[in-house]
Amino acid sequence: MPEFFEELLSSTSPPTYKFYNGAGWTKSQSGKEMEINSPVDGSLVGCVPVVTQEEIDGVIARAIQAQKAWNEVSLDKRATIMHLAADWLRHHEEYLTRLLIMEIGKTVDEAKGEVKRTADLIDYYTDEARSLRGEEIDSDAFPGFEKGKIAIVNRVPWGVVLAIAPFNYPINLSASKIAPALLMGNACVLKPPTHGSIAGLHLTQAFVKAGVPEGVISCVTGGGSEIGEYLTQHAGINMVAFTGSSETGAKLCTTSGMMPLLFECGGNNPVIVLEDADLVLTAAQIIKGGFSYAGQRCTGVKYVLSYEHILDKLIPMVLELVRTDVKMGDPRSSETKLVGPIITESAAKTIEQRVKDAVEAGATLVIGGKRMGTYIEPTLLSHARPEMDVVRTETFGPVVSFISIQSVEEALRIVNSSMYGLQASIFTKDEGTGIKLGQKINVGTVQVNFSPQRGPDHFPFLGVKKSGLGVQGVRYSLEAMSRVKSIVLNKYE
Ligand code: G3H
Repeated sequence: MPEFFEELLSSTSPPTYKFYNGAGWTKSQSGKEMEINSPVDGSLVGCVPVVTQEEIDGVIARAIQAQKAWNEVSLDKRATIMHLAADWLRHHEEYLTRLLIMEIGKTVDEAKGEVKRTADLIDYYTDEARSLRGEEIDSDAFPGFEKGKIAIVNRVPWGVVLAIAPFNYPINLSASKIAPALLMGNACVLKPPTHGSIAGLHLTQAFVKAGVPEGVISCVTGGGSEIGEYLTQHAGINMVAFTGSSETGAKLCTTSGMMPLLFECGGNNPVIVLEDADLVLTAAQIIKGGFSYAGQRCTGVKYVLSYEHILDKLIPMVLELVRTDVKMGDPRSSETKLVGPIITESAAKTIEQRVKDAVEAGATLVIGGKRMGTYIEPTLLSHARPEMDVVRTETFGPVVSFISIQSVEEALRIVNSSMYGLQASIFTKDEGTGIKLGQKINVGTVQVNFSPQRGPDHFPFLGVKKSGLGVQGVRYSLEAMSRVKSIVLNKYE
C-alpha cells in the first residue's frame, strides 16, 4: 500500500480500515466490522467498520459547522483542491486499479478506465463550475409591472449532501457526487457501497490530502440496512444523491422526507433493431452493451426487439461474437474479456434462476446459462417474452434476451410499458427514422446506432419512471447540487 493511504489502516493482517469522521481516520466505537470478500476468488480484501448512530451524528454535526466556512472559500481555491484530488487519483491509478479488480471484480481495463475517467470527470466539473453564471432579471417585462424591481439570481449550496454510491462504480459514482457537491459549496457525507467501501475510503483520502478542510468531507461505512435509513432520515442532511437499485431508491424516497433528491436507479435498456440496420454494428454494440462488467451496469443492454427474419440473421452474428470477443474468467487474467464475476454469489444465483425460469417458460437458451460460484456464463436467450422476469425486471448480469416483434408499434408498446425508463437504443441506417422513433420512447436518453451509456459525462443523464429522479451530467449535476437564490432590489426613492 502506498504511504499516501497508510492512515486508513488500523491493522494490516487482515487489512482492517478506519472510517473518516471528517476530522480524522478513526476506528468505530461499535467494534463491529464488515468483511469484504472478493467476488473474484472469495479472498478477504479487508474489513471496514460499521459506524454507530452517535458517530453519524458527530460526522453530520461537523459537516453542518464546516459547510458554512467552506461556502465562504473562493471558487478558485475550491477548484485548486479539486484538480489536486484528480491528480492524486491519477498518481495512484495502478494501486487503485488493483483494488477495484479485487474488491468489485472489474477487469483490468474496466478498473483502470474507472480511475482515469474519475480524474477527468473531477477536472471537467471544476472547469464547468468556474463558468456557471447567475443572472439579473428586470421587472417590467411582466404585465402590470414597471421598471423598478431587479432580481439578482445566483446559485447557493443546499448544505450537507449525502452521497450514496453503488458497487459497480465505487470511485466514479462517488466522485460524481462529491465533486459537484463540494464545488457548489456543500459539505458531503459519503456512504460507499458494501463492496466498494474500501475504494470509497481511498477516494476520500484523495480529497482529504488535496486539502478539503475538516468536516467538509467524511466517509461512513456500514451496511445499507444498518446505517442507510438512519443517514437518509437524519435532520442534518439537506440533499440525497443516490445511485443504486430501483427498490432501494423507492424506499429512500419514503424515508428521506421532503428534500431534494438526485437518483440514478435501475435501467432495463432495450435495443430496437429496424429492418435497415447495419447488423455488423448492431451485433458489436449488443456485445459491448450487454457484457461489459458482466452486465452489471444500469446502462447495460438487456433485451433486443426485432422482426423474426432480422433476428434469424442477427442472433448468429451475436453468438459468433460471444465466442470470439467475450470470455468469462478471472478479471486479473489478460485472457478474460468483459465477463468477470458477479458481485456476490447470491446475486449470481438470482440471475441463474431467472435464466432457468425463462427457459422453462419457453425461451431458448442460445448459449451460456451456467453458474460457477460468482461467475455466470455470457448468456443469450431467444424467443423471450416481455412478461418473463428476465426481461421484465433488471437482470444485473451477463444476459441478453431477444424478443420477436410484428411491428414497430409493438416494440414501442413493450418499451413504454416497462417500469424502467433509463435509456434505449435504435439501430437504423436512417437517422431521421431514428430521431422520429426516439421521440416516441419514454426514457431519459435514446441512442441512435450505439449501445446505452452514461458518457460522455457532460451529456445529461437521467431516468424516468423507476429509473431515477433529477438530471446528472456535469453542468446538470452542478445545478442539482445547488439551488437558485434571488435577492430582489426594489426601487428606493
Ligand atoms: O451503472 C450505472 C452507471 O451510471 C453506468 O455508467 O454507462 O458509463 O457504464 P456507464
